[in-house]
Amino acid sequence: MGSVQLPQDTLDGKGTLLNDPGPRDPDEETPYSSYLRSEVLHTLQAPVSDSPAEPAFLVNAQVMELYFGLIVHELRTAQGELRSGLLGRATATLRRTAAHFRSLNGTWSSISWLTPVELTPILRGIGEVHGRDSALQSWMFRWMVFLLGIKSPDGLVPLESTPTRRSRLREALGEPSIYDDVLGLFARSGHPVPADCLQRDFAAPYVPHPEVGEVWRAVYQAPAEHAELFALGEAMADIAEEFTTWKYRHLMSVRRTFGNRNGYYGEPGVAWLSPTLDEIPFPEMWTARAEVE
Ligand code: HEM
Repeated sequence: MGSVQLPQDTLDGKGTLLNDPGPRDPDEETPYSSYLRSEVLHTLQAPVSDSPAEPAFLVNAQVMELYFGLIVHELRTAQGELRSGLLGRATATLRRTAAHFRSLNGTWSSISWLTPVELTPILRGIGEVHGRDSALQSWMFRWMVFLLGIKSPDGLVPLESTPTRRSRLREALGEPSIYDDVLGLFARSGHPVPADCLQRDFAAPYVPHPEVGEVWRAVYQAPAEHAELFALGEAMADIAEEFTTWKYRHLMSVRRTFGNRNGYYGEPGVAWLSPTLDEIPFPEMWTARAEVE
């Protein structure tokens, strides 16, 4: 049985691999490598610079991308459970999602030491080998953000050159977020949720409503009486907090390594990113806390 060539686009003028994984031979798969696709996995790190920091930057960015995909999967699972009225299972899925976010955020520690002189050659190498890059092109991150209920068509712009992904993401923009599904569950359980909050253009930003705030206030005023919704709310609070933590740690990494230079949109990256820290998912679940006596 002959060896399998590494995918050309991994190596063809696009750097050399982090470690030489050797030739891939289907006869030499173990159950471990067959399940984890570990032999393929080790062909996916091709640095583009001499910066000693690049292996850590590249691997952690890939791990983050995998977590974005895992979180998208979990949020969609929770949506299915909410639509089937399986509140306990949806809460368990959302608690699991919060755990993934905590682990995702831990990856920042592995690159928090990065300095400008270590990052600059990496960014230059990416530009030279792959073209003009921005993580705004991560459609998995944007899908995750849409599922969390933060909706804007601006997220589609950096994908103009990839029409299939852009059109998939446009669909995701128009689908209900996890918060829309929670409001649907409220309504089906007899809580007063205005029709405008339920039947709406899901691609448009959600507009908070006092009646939804009142449902959350009642839950947080008497957690024992509303134990199931309270548990759901706290899982959502964990997710929102960890999502914001990701953004904060990213922003601090940008400050440390990139400073105030211009980013993708031609304006200072820090100035563009800072206001997004105020985009906290599940609005009334937070504002209702001020009304609890
Ligand atoms: C530590 C060095 C990093 C720098 C200097 C940096 C820089 C930036 C800048 C300036 C932006 C704003 C958009 C733009 O102008 O491109 C941005 C957005 C973004 N970056 Fe990074 N980044 C870094 C690391 C990472 C890593 C490791 C990831 C993980 C995949 C990542 C994912 C993202 C995402 C998802 C966005 C969009 C954020 C949003 O829309 O809220 N970045 N980055």
